[in-house]
Amino acid sequence: MKISLLQFSPRLNNLQANLDAVNNLIGASDSDLYILPELANSGYNFVDKQNAFDNSESIKNSIYIDHLISIAKDKNAHIVSGFCERDGDKLYNSATLINSDGVIGLYRKLHLFLNEKDIFEPGDKGLPVFDTALGKIGMLICFDWMFPEAWRHLALKGAQLIAHPSNLVLPYCQSVTPSYALVNRCFTATANRIGTERNLTFTGQSLLADINGNTVIKGSKDQSQLLSAEIDLCLANSKSVTALNNVFEDRRSDIYGDLNTTIND
Ligand code: ACM
Repeated sequence: MKISLLQFSPRLNNLQANLDAVNNLIGASDSDLYILPELANSGYNFVDKQNAFDNSESIKNSIYIDHLISIAKDKNAHIVSGFCERDGDKLYNSATLINSDGVIGLYRKLHLFLNEKDIFEPGDKGLPVFDTALGKIGMLICFDWMFPEAWRHLALKGAQLIAHPSNLVLPYCQSVTPSYALVNRCFTATANRIGTERNLTFTGQSLLADINGNTVIKGSKDQSQLLSAEIDLCLANSKSVTALNNVFEDRRSDIYGDLNTTIND
């Protein structure tokens, strides 16, 4: 399958500019799966909760999501995108998985960064893995990178690819995710934004890693880019690293516990 990471600079308070940026980057491309950054409909660095609320949409009534569904139909593609989600009077920093049928998956960010804690509710959907026509896909969002348990948990649940919409500001994530890919023997796909919003500058360098921890594609620090590669998700089905070592079967959960029994979802 062909996967594309969209790296661009979502504009705060400007849904139309963000729709235009998505259209321009996707253009005439023909990928099976597109992954977009965190909060790609809204921008990131809200002045306050009201500002985030004004930029949010409910999943069932969303110009942004409807637009992505129309792209998915047009391209017969799957799309993962970060999304400023309103649910009643609550806000979530969410990622949606979309195909030509509509929204087929939702994840709400578990680990909130900085003043996101004043704006969003922590995620309440656990760590789902979605069995799609392309393969098994899990989602994490940006600062979730800091928690290896989350990546392991998704891999143990069968995720062949972990899609990771991001608005990264710290300089560490891109050196860590290839290791998560390696130790879980799954693909990781970080679609990170670029640009500056008020006091935050985002680090770009969107990154796709394969099951051996190789960097398959890496974006620039500051350019809008569509970054594409062919990958085979079936490679993630084998957890063997030597003839005698399987990274899941060799786990000593009798010593350090089993994530499957300690994480609740
Ligand atoms: C982040 O979680 N947006 C850094």
